[in-house]
Amino acid sequence: MCKQQVTVGLGARSYPILIQPGLLPQIGVDLAGRNIGKRFAVISDDHVAVLYGEILLQSLSEAGLDAELITFPRGESNKNLQTIASLASELARRGFDRSDALLALGGGVTGDMTGFLAAVYMRGIAFVQVPTTLLAQVDSSVGGKTGVDIPEGKNLVGAFYQPQAVYIDPDVLKTLPHDELLGGLAEVIKYGVIQDEEFFDFLSTNREDILALKENAIIPLIARCCEIKAQVVEQDEREGGLRRILNFGHTIGHAIEAASDFTLIHGLSISIGMRAAADLAVLGGHLVQQDAERLRRLLESFGLPVVIPSALDRTAIKKFLQADKKTIGGRVFFVFPEAIGRVVITDKVEETDLDEVLGKN
Ligand code: NAD
Ligand code: GLY
Repeated sequence: MCKQQVTVGLGARSYPILIQPGLLPQIGVDLAGRNIGKRFAVISDDHVAVLYGEILLQSLSEAGLDAELITFPRGESNKNLQTIASLASELARRGFDRSDALLALGGGVTGDMTGFLAAVYMRGIAFVQVPTTLLAQVDSSVGGKTGVDIPEGKNLVGAFYQPQAVYIDPDVLKTLPHDELLGGLAEVIKYGVIQDEEFFDFLSTNREDILALKENAIIPLIARCCEIKAQVVEQDEREGGLRRILNFGHTIGHAIEAASDFTLIHGLSISIGMRAAADLAVLGGHLVQQDAERLRRLLESFGLPVVIPSALDRTAIKKFLQADKKTIGGRVFFVFPEAIGRVVITDKVEETDLDEVLGKN
């Protein structure tokens, strides 16, 4: 139980996700057996690098692998093309070439940027994910969405580019700030709503052990999320259809995040976005009120926010909704639960319902 492996099955581009407490110092040994690169550039933000950079470098060096650390300043505001340019220049100055590989050590910002850098540096080199936030462990490190933000919007420049392996050590979550843990839990709850009612109930039953990061709860939790994500990505890698269900809570959530000028972190915005989407689904006749209440209760029981902060301008939220990446041909698409464990995608939303949900928060 304390060690799990999930495979993302994409033919020749398939890769393993290894989940194990205490894995970080053992990554070198496993990597050495995989023939991924001659030399590794470990890319990390300046905070995670201090916490875990040395342990990882030592693990690689003890396994006979050459590795060097390259850092960038932490935070979403640095997930941009300027950082990509400076990291690429640093790789070039240090002589990294196509036979080498990148290793992303950090949260979703590091993983998204390192993956994108790997996709474009020398027209593509291999990369490995070592996610260190819960959000990155259950979501962003799996599935190959990579990219950066531009002033016009979040994640607007990127590539689908799969890693060669994902190494998840839940022990690193012990240093994660509580809000960041909560943000990851919002994405965890998302999986229960979109695909798996039993998992939704597991989250409710094991809430205390999950918040205490007990192995008996956190390992199956991470494994189940990775399994669901892998199954979705295997069927729809480039988001032609099914993969859009992973955006449950993100339509309104992203707009809230942007309207807050990113002061409200991603996962917390998604929590509010899921609650708002469930309320819209009830108004549109897709979901019964009792199931919307079940979701609200679970979110609140974890201490997640469910109410749009009153300081946020509703007009700004609506403007960001229109500008979202999930808008196709000017139509805004929503993922609505039809029950816990089942969702539908629709652009048929009454403006009055939207105003009611945005207004009454
Ligand atoms: P993040 O990478 O900025 O990490 C959050 C903070 O936690 C940072 O300050 C970081 O330094 C710190 N941190 C990371 N690991 C730590 C640890 N173990 N201990 C202490 N501090 C630690 O943010 P995030 O929430 O991990 O990721 C958010 C990003 O992920 C967004 O840019 C979002 O767009 C992206 N995302 C991508 C996907 C995808 O499929 N690619 C999915 C969801 C989100
Ligand atoms: N986090 C959404 C996706 O990977 O598609």
